[in-house]
Amino acid sequence: YGGELRYLGTTSSTQDEARRWADDPQQPGSHGAVVVAERQTAGRGRRGRSWQTTGGTLVFSVLLRCGPRGQPLTLPELALLPLAAGVAVWQAAGVGGLKWPNDLLSPDGRKLAGILLEADLRGEEARRAVLGIGINVGAAPDGAAHLHEFRPELTRAELLSDLLRELRRWLSATPDEILAGWRAASLTLGRRVRLQTPTGPLDGIATDLDAHGSLLVSTPEGLRTVSAGDVQLIGD
Ligand code: BTN
Repeated sequence: YGGELRYLGTTSSTQDEARRWADDPQQPGSHGAVVVAERQTAGRGRRGRSWQTTGGTLVFSVLLRCGPRGQPLTLPELALLPLAAGVAVWQAAGVGGLKWPNDLLSPDGRKLAGILLEADLRGEEARRAVLGIGINVGAAPDGAAHLHEFRPELTRAELLSDLLRELRRWLSATPDEILAGWRAASLTLGRRVRLQTPTGPLDGIATDLDAHGSLLVSTPEGLRTVSAGDVQLIGD
């Protein structure tokens, strides 16, 4: 990862740049190509949210053209990829822990980093996906945390190189390794969480992950399996 790297000043979103690079007939980006930008004018987050780039954010996207064994990405691999990327971010940042599925939170629960996986699905597999990561390094939007509060010496360049190394490792890890890594990084398991369901909010205790990386939540209405969306951490 990062063997090919483009560094941009301002762009709409590094996700779009990575896609354009993949489609470039002259010099198509290869697997692991990385686009880093100083600023995004239309950075996006999960579930249609926007992602604000303040002066001190590290934002980049990685082009993935295949799964860990050189094959197209299958649905089970695609389900675990965001968790694997979360573990990589947690390891490189060296602080806090993960809220399911992959937000890196500070020890006091403020958001430090977010991850967005966009896969081009064809039926049950994808030949291409773009993994986007945004980390608040030297500054953060209101209510969020930044890494310099905990590791003032860390530079964005150092963090990027540590992260690319961890991504190389975790994106090719086995499902069992990814699940074990995620459990170790978790700030979610054992905690009270609130789920949004079609019939309203439902509270329970996050107990574990299943083999697909879905979150198992024990609620008064029975065990729920959460495979998409967000959970809210509540109380202790
Ligand atoms: C989230 O927490 O909702 C995910 C945030 C992902 C933001 C990153 S920044 C680099 C890449 N480019 C984007 O437009 N989004 C991702």
